[in-house]
Amino acid sequence: MKHFEDSLSFAQQLDANDNLKHFREQFYFPRHNGKDVIYFCGNSLGLQPKNVEAAIQTELQTWREIAIEGYFKGTNPWLYYHEYLRGSLAKIVGANDDEVTVMNALTVNLHFMMLSFYRPNAQRYKIMMEAGAFPSDQYAVETQVKHYGFDPADAIIEIAPRDGEKILRTEDILEAIHKNKDALALVLFSGINYYTGQLFDMPAITDAAHKAGAVAGWDLAHVTGNVPTKLHEWNVDFAVWCSYKYLNAGPGAAGGVFVHERHAKQNETSRLAGWWGNDEKTRFKMEKGFIAKPDASGWNLSTSQVFNMAALKASLELFDAAGIEQLHAKSITLTGYLEFLLQQLQHETFEIITPNDPDQRGAQLCLYFKEKGKEIHNALMNEGIVVDYREPGVIRVAPAPLYCSFEDAWRCVEIVKTVLSK
Ligand SMILES: Cc1ncc(COP(=O)(O)O)c(C=O)c1O
Repeated sequence: MKHFEDSLSFAQQLDANDNLKHFREQFYFPRHNGKDVIYFCGNSLGLQPKNVEAAIQTELQTWREIAIEGYFKGTNPWLYYHEYLRGSLAKIVGANDDEVTVMNALTVNLHFMMLSFYRPNAQRYKIMMEAGAFPSDQYAVETQVKHYGFDPADAIIEIAPRDGEKILRTEDILEAIHKNKDALALVLFSGINYYTGQLFDMPAITDAAHKAGAVAGWDLAHVTGNVPTKLHEWNVDFAVWCSYKYLNAGPGAAGGVFVHERHAKQNETSRLAGWWGNDEKTRFKMEKGFIAKPDASGWNLSTSQVFNMAALKASLELFDAAGIEQLHAKSITLTGYLEFLLQQLQHETFEIITPNDPDQRGAQLCLYFKEKGKEIHNALMNEGIVVDYREPGVIRVAPAPLYCSFEDAWRCVEIVKTVLSK
């Protein structure tokens, strides 16, 4: 463990040595009592990058000045808009550019991916996921299995932590996959669980799913832009994520999708299609017969959501400039420092349930309060600390490394100390 000190001057020294510190100025911070808030909520909604407004203005101008011709002319011809995002996202998730696309939103994309990759039959129809997955994922899985005539109680296998534990053990997940190898069709985990902040061992779980004859799909809502992944190398079949958390593309931003090239190159891979996934050479011939583009964008259905994607495009420029590996290196130290400061409180009212190991977490620490979690959350918000609360009892504190500082961490914990002493 690094040597840390609980002092403002030490925190300021860490900031002075941080070569990513200038990125903070690229974001708008909400204000509270005349001061910038301490924003530790980028795991829920990232802050607005200052370059977004100009990016949207550019598209407004194209629309205003050349209208329909904007699809083919203008600064960023709209016909290809989703393609402008692929290169930056591919670096963040560890993929080839054409294994990534942007479309719709997370839950919609999860359904579309399951329609392609969850192909149940009478023997192999079960889906395994972590117990306590995000509700939208639970609803998606429940309704998919019902759609194929299966009973969720039988077809969905949820893996829970051992009695008295809050975190899943990788060995238990791998064993459960192996045990169910004859019936498993899909293993679908969140990369990071939203409630505990646990980062799962993605390569090991993907590998085990494949050995069991199942497909491995991932919900990377809490991973993309937070922890670098190697989706291509790990042989992940598909992954989906949202762009409004660590990717800072704004509320309801267009979602991201990864499809491994071994599926994406096969244009006969089953899917529900629309014209934006059809080869551009024949798209405008208006003829029958869908011809999928031989890459992830063969899953796009509708016209690109330009205004929405413009924000993501602007935000990704910052990721290109900072580099996901460098961001992650800062994140490990920043989250580690926050954890160290919280540990100094030696307070019995809460427990940090997120794993202590940086390889098993991202930028989020989850503080579990047996009592009064919601009241404490409200008190922190009243002091200008923006964090969120999830039932039961968890305050999630997420210092996103692009715009959070070590001084933020120190000030935050000073305020936590005051609030807890009341
Ligand atoms: C893990 C996870 N899955 C799914 C969703 C739902 O995403 P959307 O509303 O974009 O479909 C969220 C939203 O926060 C999430 O955190």
